[in-house]
Parts: sequence; structure tokens; C-alpha cells
Amino acid sequence: MGPSLGTRLERDKETVHVLCSRTSGHFGGSFTYVPGALDRSGLIVPNAAGVTSPLHVPIVAIDGPSGSGKGTISRAVARHAGWHLLDSGALYRLVALAGARSGIAPDDMDGHADLARRMDVQFGSDAAGAEAIRLDHDDVTAAIRTEEAGQGASRVAAWPAVRAALMERQHAFAQAPGLVADGRDMGTIVFPSADLKVFLTASAEERALRRYKQLKEKGSGANLAALSREIAERDRRDSTRAVAPLKPASDARIVDSTGLSVAQVVEAVLSLGRSQGLWA
Ligand code: C5P
Repeated sequence: MGPSLGTRLERDKETVHVLCSRTSGHFGGSFTYVPGALDRSGLIVPNAAGVTSPLHVPIVAIDGPSGSGKGTISRAVARHAGWHLLDSGALYRLVALAGARSGIAPDDMDGHADLARRMDVQFGSDAAGAEAIRLDHDDVTAAIRTEEAGQGASRVAAWPAVRAALMERQHAFAQAPGLVADGRDMGTIVFPSADLKVFLTASAEERALRRYKQLKEKGSGANLAALSREIAERDRRDSTRAVAPLKPASDARIVDSTGLSVAQVVEAVLSLGRSQGLWA
């Protein structure tokens, strides 16, 4: 019997070593790397002869600065396509929260990288279908969405060891029938051969205002001037850091959502995907 869908792979230069518990006589444990294929799939399937080859899993990367609406748009696009969703920002927020809860020093990079590898995270939904995230079995859905958690995420996200530690977790989201990946470096670093790369942006004023309304709706206290400063600070840190800085991939399509409604932005992204044959 061949390896099951979702078998995890690791790339070592030209060879892909297959990590799986079920192997067959046809399946030796490694095969030649097909450039570009593994980055976006991470899945393998045996053909009729039992020979394995990478299965293409379509990926849409949606990157952009804080408050650009990536989360809302990515969710809507994933729902339209019936694909999986990766909220990579949540992973950085979880690392920061796990660090604060474990009591390790705020500047302990290796300690945070270790947590990034070991933390037990479950992404799911509650009975009403709303997002539900658990960290070590504890419901942290609200705790990771505060502006403070966002600042903590931006701090740990600047550390190369933490970014490297989260890479494998992110690749594991690339599962059939497809993935919408939301973040800062989805199109540049994590999924460089994504089928469609969108860089979603909006003016700094509009982004601060959106975040303000979002926090108000959730019943959290919010101050527009302070939020504007925090967003500007996060933009500065995210786009000037040495590793994986926030910037559009050279082949990204820029979508400026300033003055557009959510429905208009969703339609703009859906029409880009449609023109690439990703969905109807
Ligand atoms: O998107 P979100 O606001 O949840 O991300 C929180 C922080 O995590 C960002 O400000 C950024 O510093 C970091 N991040 C990142 N790379 C990603 C996603 C998020 O560095 N792919």
C-alpha cells in the first residue's frame, strides 16, 4: 500500500525523503525533487503502477500589512473555493502567547523557537461555526487577537529561529483540494511557487480605522490615535526586519482596498483566481 495523502515530506537538496509509516515495495523512501512542486504541495500520490509523484495542490498566497483585511478576504476566498485556510499570523501570535505563559524571558529567541516547534495548537470552530483556537487545550481565541498579542507576534516574528521553526507547520497546511495562505511572507518565502499571489494593501488611516471598528465590535476598549501609532510601528518593524520582511513578491498582484467594500475586494481576488482557472 502506498503512502496516504498528506504524508509529510522533507526536502534535502535534490532528494525528497518521505516520512511515512506506511510504505510499499514500490516505494523506496526517497525520490527526485521536482523543483517547485513540493513547495506548494507537500503531498504525494502513487499512480497506477505504484510510482509516487508530487500531487499539485493549488495555493493562493494573500500577503499584506496589518489591518489590510487579509483575514476577512482570505476566509471568504477559502470558503468560495472550498479550500483550507492558513492564518499564519495566528501562529506568531500563539508563539508570543505561549512564551508569556511559560515564563521564559521575553528576549529568549531559542526558547521561543523551541515553543514554536512543540506547542500543541488546534484550529477549529465552535458550535456556532466561529473560529476557535486552542493552545495546549486552552481556548485562546480571544487572547491572541488583542493588539498586545499582535505586538508580541511582531517581536517574535523578527527572529529567524522562530520563523524557521514555524515553516514545517505552515507547509503542512498545503492539503488537497487547495490552500489560501494569509500572512506577510506567504508568496515570498513560505510558498514561493503559489499559483496566485495577492498583496493586499490599504492606506494607513483606513487600516487603523478598520482595526478600531473591529475592536469596538468585540467590546474591547480602543483608541484610534494609539492604534494608528501601533499599526505604524508594526508596519515599520515588519517591513524593515532582516528576515522575511513584508514586501510584495515580484509576481504578486497588488490589490489596494482603500475605499472598497469587503464584497468588492473579495470579488477582485476571486476574479484574479478565475482568470487563472483556479475556480469557477
Ligand atoms: O496578521 P497578524 O496581524 O495576525 O500577524 C501578527 C504579526 O505576526 C504581524 O505583525 C507580523 O509581525 C507577524 N507575521 C509574520 N509573518 C507572517 C504572518 C504574521 O511575520 N506570515
